[in-house]
Amino acid sequence: MNEFTPRTIIEPFRVRSVEPIHFTTADERREALEAAGFNPFQLRAEDVLIDLLTDSGTGAMSSRQWAGMMASDESYAGAASFYRFEAAVRDITGFKHVIPTHQGRAAEHILFGTLAKKGNVVLNNTHFDTTRAHVEHTGAEARDLLIPEGRDPKSPHPFKGNMDLVALESAIREIGAHRVPAILITVTNNSGGGQPVSMANIRGVSTIARKHGIPFFIDACRFAENAWFIRTREEGYAGKLPIDIAREMFALADGCTMSAKKDGMANIGGFLALNNDALATRCRNLEILTEGFPTYGGMAGYDLEAIAHGLYEALQPEYLEYRIGSIAYLGRKLTDAGIPIIEPTGGHAVYLDAGGIAPHIPPLEYPAWSVNNALYLTGGVRGVEIGTVMFGLQPDGTEKPASRELVRLAFPRRVYTQSHVDYLAEVIIEACSRAADLTGYRIVSESPVLRHFTARLEPIT
Ligand code: F0G
Repeated sequence: MNEFTPRTIIEPFRVRSVEPIHFTTADERREALEAAGFNPFQLRAEDVLIDLLTDSGTGAMSSRQWAGMMASDESYAGAASFYRFEAAVRDITGFKHVIPTHQGRAAEHILFGTLAKKGNVVLNNTHFDTTRAHVEHTGAEARDLLIPEGRDPKSPHPFKGNMDLVALESAIREIGAHRVPAILITVTNNSGGGQPVSMANIRGVSTIARKHGIPFFIDACRFAENAWFIRTREEGYAGKLPIDIAREMFALADGCTMSAKKDGMANIGGFLALNNDALATRCRNLEILTEGFPTYGGMAGYDLEAIAHGLYEALQPEYLEYRIGSIAYLGRKLTDAGIPIIEPTGGHAVYLDAGGIAPHIPPLEYPAWSVNNALYLTGGVRGVEIGTVMFGLQPDGTEKPASRELVRLAFPRRVYTQSHVDYLAEVIIEACSRAADLTGYRIVSESPVLRHFTARLEPIT
């Protein structure tokens, strides 16, 4: 008999433990949002029906992970759970030294605290906010060298997270290799829309870094999702196992930083992994000061267990097909309805182009903030504004429009099903059909840094 080829991609799991989600009426949502100062970060999570604020630490764990957690070893030093964690990280990344941390930014703190100083420049396709903050905290400069297609929301380029290799060479020549303590590549490129980086590009960066003797690190938060894009979009990788693709990616680098809250499939945790013995010793010294003893590094034994299993689960082909497929499925429904989004869709999120959805709202009245709030008011959906509220406040206290007005809808891993995604599409389409009636917002109070987390706003009537 011929093999049956289904058209439907199903969730590659069945549900064994459920968590109720809370339905609210339109009046209740208006009240809740008003009490939150019209800031979704200030909402109580139980007032949200579908929560797409982040894919970080919000995933569901498997029965295998929970079983490992129950059997964890909580010894302060040399716990069996650490050795299982270390073996998994080494097996997948190939790096010699594995330094556990409580989350990704702690790995960044240790790496840059050890490597970088004033006068240095760290190069990356695009630094994520915390990465940039940790580089700048040392007095060094964080410079982004993304290919131009990565900034164009409509470019169909298959690897919009790629580094511009020509710009990389000329930046090193201009700065001087001795002032570049590290080159990074962020896979997938979160700040650029969850866009992937090709193996050829990682190899190109690696060759340039090695030629100049500069350490090359991967910001590996979403390494499994990136491996899937390489398998489906890059010549020569069709049918290869994601784990083998991931091993090939890591083999090109000298180390990685990792937030296990993403493709580690855990609710907390991270690590720094690297090959250089002397650098590892210096990093461990800083780790003891800020994270804890090197065999737990800010995590409980059960967190180490969750990650040891989670890293492999994130690499299962059926899981990745469903994961990337759900994002693409929502993206297709929205583009079919004429809603502008960043295309092609990336690995962990759909990004709505709020500038295109509500062009009548000027940037300094925060169009993406308004569209995001409309999603909540319409159907209890919470995304995050990536626009002028997040990036517009300048160090001198003035304000200028962000380069783009986006709403990021990031998907927790293994949490929502296809009917949730169908519902989401309905909410977004409904909210966008009434976009002409949306008003802008004004800020009533704000803090001088990272104002989007705590600012209070009001609609402009
Ligand atoms: N690097 C990237 C590319 C990230 O996306 C994040 C976190 C980090 C580093 C820091 O990791 O949160 O464990 O300290 N991104 C989350 C997000 C917060 O919502 O995109 P962390």
